Amino acid sequence: MKRVLITRRLPAEGLAPLQRAGFDVAMRSSDTAPGRAELLALVEGVDALITLMSDSVDEELLDAAGPDLRVVANYAVGHDNIDLAACRARDVVVTNTPDVLTDTTADLAFALLLAVARRLREGDLMVRSGAWDGWQPGQLLGQEVSGATLGLVGMGRIGGAVARRARGFDMNVLYHNRRRSAALEAETGARPVSLRDLLRESDFISLHCPLTPETHHLIDAAALAAMKPTAVLVNTARGPVIDEAALAAALAAGRPWGAGLDVFEHEPAVEQRLLALPNVVLAPHIGSATHSARTAMARLCAEAVVTVLAGGTPVNAVT
Ligand code: GLV
Repeated sequence: MKRVLITRRLPAEGLAPLQRAGFDVAMRSSDTAPGRAELLALVEGVDALITLMSDSVDEELLDAAGPDLRVVANYAVGHDNIDLAACRARDVVVTNTPDVLTDTTADLAFALLLAVARRLREGDLMVRSGAWDGWQPGQLLGQEVSGATLGLVGMGRIGGAVARRARGFDMNVLYHNRRRSAALEAETGARPVSLRDLLRESDFISLHCPLTPETHHLIDAAALAAMKPTAVLVNTARGPVIDEAALAAALAAGRPWGAGLDVFEHEPAVEQRLLALPNVVLAPHIGSATHSARTAMARLCAEAVVTVLAGGTPVNAVT
């Protein structure tokens, strides 16, 4: 019987395809990540693995799994935790969870953008603490979103979904991406620009690129200094795309003006200096955290495992 290991508790409704296929499924009952030693022991002899982004799938783990392993289905759209070349060398198919979390994550990016622009965190604290003593003309003045310029770093599925939302706010959309997307340009009016121009001209900058050696610390001290002093930076992509220490120093110096962060460089650790800054909204990596998206992600992983173990090629294979 084919053995499947799921490294974390996932929504059971999404896993029905594995039961139907009659596999021997072992799912860790914990909501927290396994230690490395536990993970290496658990993977021994499995045919399929459903992993999370906190599980590093490298040579060591593939060796520990052994020659029966055919598929690693990553419960995320990002796959920077997986050594793709090592998987390819062993004929292990890697899959991810595109599409089903696109709108969900774009919604969160926009929520962070609006929350920072309109200083919602500070306002919420003011009301709760009893410090609010009435409407004031100069109270909690923020940045205008409607009609502002939004710069998208990365214009894949999620970047495109953010551009569509921006259209509803009459925003002027710029983007920087490896490839141009004529279809998204036509649909959203987005304009391709160099990263330098995007940093200089945008009122809001939202990151939607994958984490790769090229994008690691793409937003460093120099990039931060190139932004408008009134700019707001949003990151729902991967923490290491930003040099987090440089961001904390830049925000403390008042430039950029604010930031909304769902991802961090050393999760779950967060640069301590960010915690003390008022105009930073912090979220615990919840970009895809809705019931329907998380269930759909589980289903995509389960279907990919069934397809590969039946000798097929899943639609969501990462190439
Ligand atoms: C979450 O960060 C994902 O990549 O799906």
